Amino acid sequence: MPADAVLHVAGARPNFPKAAPVIRALDRHGVRQRLVHTGQHYDDRMSEVFFRQLRLPEPDLNLGVGSGSHASQTAAVMTGLEELMIADRPALTVVYGDVNSALAAALVAAKLGIPVAHVEAGLRSFDRSMPEEINRVVVDHVSDLLFATSPEALAHLETEGIAAEKVHLVGNPMIDTLLANLDRFDVAGIRAALALPERYVVATLHRPGNVDDAADAVDLVKAMHSVADHLPVVLPLHPRGRRHLENAGLLSHRAMRVIEPLGYLEFVSLVRGAAVVVTDSGGVQEETTMLGVPCLTLRPNTERPITITHGTNRLVTRSTLAEAVASTLATGRLAVRATPPLWDGAAGERIARIIAATL
Ligand code: UD1
Ligand code: UDP
Repeated sequence: MPADAVLHVAGARPNFPKAAPVIRALDRHGVRQRLVHTGQHYDDRMSEVFFRQLRLPEPDLNLGVGSGSHASQTAAVMTGLEELMIADRPALTVVYGDVNSALAAALVAAKLGIPVAHVEAGLRSFDRSMPEEINRVVVDHVSDLLFATSPEALAHLETEGIAAEKVHLVGNPMIDTLLANLDRFDVAGIRAALALPERYVVATLHRPGNVDDAADAVDLVKAMHSVADHLPVVLPLHPRGRRHLENAGLLSHRAMRVIEPLGYLEFVSLVRGAAVVVTDSGGVQEETTMLGVPCLTLRPNTERPITITHGTNRLVTRSTLAEAVASTLATGRLAVRATPPLWDGAAGERIARIIAATL
């Protein structure tokens, strides 16, 4: 690897729409780049489809780590990357979001004295029962360049004693991807392909706190069925939740449509046309905020409060979900909304400019 090369490490579904605009912008700046896919996600619909649709470059290497416990997955990424970074030392390693692949890459690079840039720094749910919260804190504390997507992140990082000169508020590269693809989202097409009526609900569920416990899954399925009593629900189901939710009877409601995970373009098209979105995804809270689609988040907290203050997001529980869907349907979409600052499609360019200046 050339000494001035930037190494991007990505591996899980939400990494890909964040990395795409950064890689493209660095290309425009003439920066030499390498992309390593850790293999944390490996199904075509969790990985390859994003490379095709978002025109990401083919990874230079796929570590093929696959699934496993937190320790074994993180360790496998660390071992693979350490070898690579020793052999081919990058000038900077860029990691995305809060997934295990980002944690592993940041730790390896920091211990080898290779600077780390964290895209999506400073988000905090203040809930250490989420593996992602642990990853966020650790990655931020070993990073040299911290790219924040929303202003409250700056305050969190300051409170944790991270020097302000390392931190840059740049906007949201996942939203760059959304805005760049607006004219590729085909609401009528996806509605026809799935034979959906004018009004429908889209759901996504994959958080361990929602889907890992068999007893909780029963309550969750009841709550989802009570939504399906109001409107048809389409649920492109993440592989993590499938076993428990299906065992809990998810498929038994006739208005509940469970499908495979969708490609990015199909999924955002589906969301854009939805009357309501029910989710526990981080990225989907942000995308609904930009699209103005009402979002009900099935979580006790969010590391993305800007989607509540500036967006369409509301936190709900299994027991308040059905009522929240009914009241949201009664209210409809709000006509006037404020967009979060710098969610303007130029975050990748801001990040690239800062990286290019520091190399
Ligand atoms: C990971 C991230 C989470 C993120 C989510 C996005 C961590 C700790 N968690 O969670 O923050 O919101 O990705 O989707 O990094 N599986 C497949 N095929 C795949 C990938 C996974 O079947 O291509 C199944 C496996 O059974 C695996 C399970 O999904 O054990 C969980 O995958 P894993 O990557 O460990 O965590 P996610 O729940 O996907
Ligand atoms: N997404 C997708 N297909 C799906 C579900 C989600 O393309 O079936 C996209 C979604 O639009 C967003 C990203 O995947 O860009 C979010 O990833 P995910 O919900 O898996 O992770 P999180 O954001 O919760 O970490």
